[in-house]
Amino acid sequence: MTTSRIHGFYNLPLDERLTELANAAGLSAADLEAFTLTGGLAPNQADHMVENAVGTFGLPLGIGLNFIVNGREVLVPMAIEEPSVVAGASFMAKLARAAGGFQAEASAPEMIGQMQVLDVPDLPKARQALLEQKANLLAEADVIDPVLKKLGGGARDLEVRVIEDSPIGSFLVIHLIYDVRDAMGANAVNTACEKLAPRVENITGGRVHLRILSNLADRRLARARCTIPVNEMAFGRDESEAHPYTGEQVRDGIIAAWAFAAADPYRAATHNKGIMNGVDAVVIATGNDWRAIEAGAHAYAARSGRYTSLSTWGKDADGNLTGFLEMPMAVGIVGGATKVHPTAKAALKLMGVKTAAKLAEIIVSVGLAQNLAALRALATEGIQRGHMSLHARQVAIAAGATGDMIEKVAVQMVAEKTVRIDRAEEILKE
Ligand code: MEV
Repeated sequence: MTTSRIHGFYNLPLDERLTELANAAGLSAADLEAFTLTGGLAPNQADHMVENAVGTFGLPLGIGLNFIVNGREVLVPMAIEEPSVVAGASFMAKLARAAGGFQAEASAPEMIGQMQVLDVPDLPKARQALLEQKANLLAEADVIDPVLKKLGGGARDLEVRVIEDSPIGSFLVIHLIYDVRDAMGANAVNTACEKLAPRVENITGGRVHLRILSNLADRRLARARCTIPVNEMAFGRDESEAHPYTGEQVRDGIIAAWAFAAADPYRAATHNKGIMNGVDAVVIATGNDWRAIEAGAHAYAARSGRYTSLSTWGKDADGNLTGFLEMPMAVGIVGGATKVHPTAKAALKLMGVKTAAKLAEIIVSVGLAQNLAALRALATEGIQRGHMSLHARQVAIAAGATGDMIEKVAVQMVAEKTVRIDRAEEILKE
């Protein structure tokens, strides 16, 4: 990858964008073929993925530009139906470039498998017995997936919890900690829990009920940081702008917006949704399980007992804006749709990602960029203006506009500041 800054990308026709993309990423057009037209997934491939398949469902795929993650230029594929997300992430990545982009890291790919043990005659005794047998249990769990084992993964730890205040009373819960390397890990962990269950029953004298992965993957975290030079934050300083903001005003506005999310769950839910706009778009484009990522993110945001912001914004000693995001990131690059879906394969190739950790680092950086885009807009002109032109095009299409009429109807609605389907229908009639 030479650069993730492709000038004028937005204004190019679709096919030229693909050529530019392939050139910038040092790939052949064939490498990115899955990005064109059909969405990459043929109905007969879909038929092997889910039951009762009748077709596929397309989503726009945009490219997040300008990203530098850990010093590496990266073009980011984003699958999303919402206007402004790709543009917002790209613009914030451009601002972050001035201070070197995003610094990101991912912890060890350790997932948690849970076993619920019911009808245990003596809970403290069973707990003690499990802990005494821990080394044996881990040794057994470790060889359940020989492929993972060969790659350096496998069982890492075993924790035993007693849950006392459940609606059915007390029971034991075992956490099997499993290093899943470059997989998302659900299959490996679920298999390990199922296979270990009979041994757990022998040891505890109880009955293993559920055996399933936890999506609160709080041992598999990804973190991203960025610094935005305060002078880069000035907004609408052009004479023609009605409401110019200095860099300091925008920075302080963003910090105040973050403080709202830090203190209030109603705002935090929306704030974190903005983060997930960026996160999910890359998770989906790479064929990963976005419901798992969503579940993990929100559970992690509530880990203190009060739901709060996943990100933190502040300023450094020089007055520059600083951002930090930490969240669970259970994504894989092997197994599941990541290896089956042609677009997902092309997406990984475009990013030059060779490990799940590298993918996690990019995703969390995009989440942070997306969060910044939303806060910057909210702290200044509001969110609607940026949304308007693409939103207006969607409204025009919904009203029946085709071809050139889409743009014409959209432009008129934006000029009139009335983007509504009834107005679009009127303009079309006129
Ligand atoms: C809209 O999809 C996302 C935002 O609501 C996020 C936020 O409010 O921070 C703009």
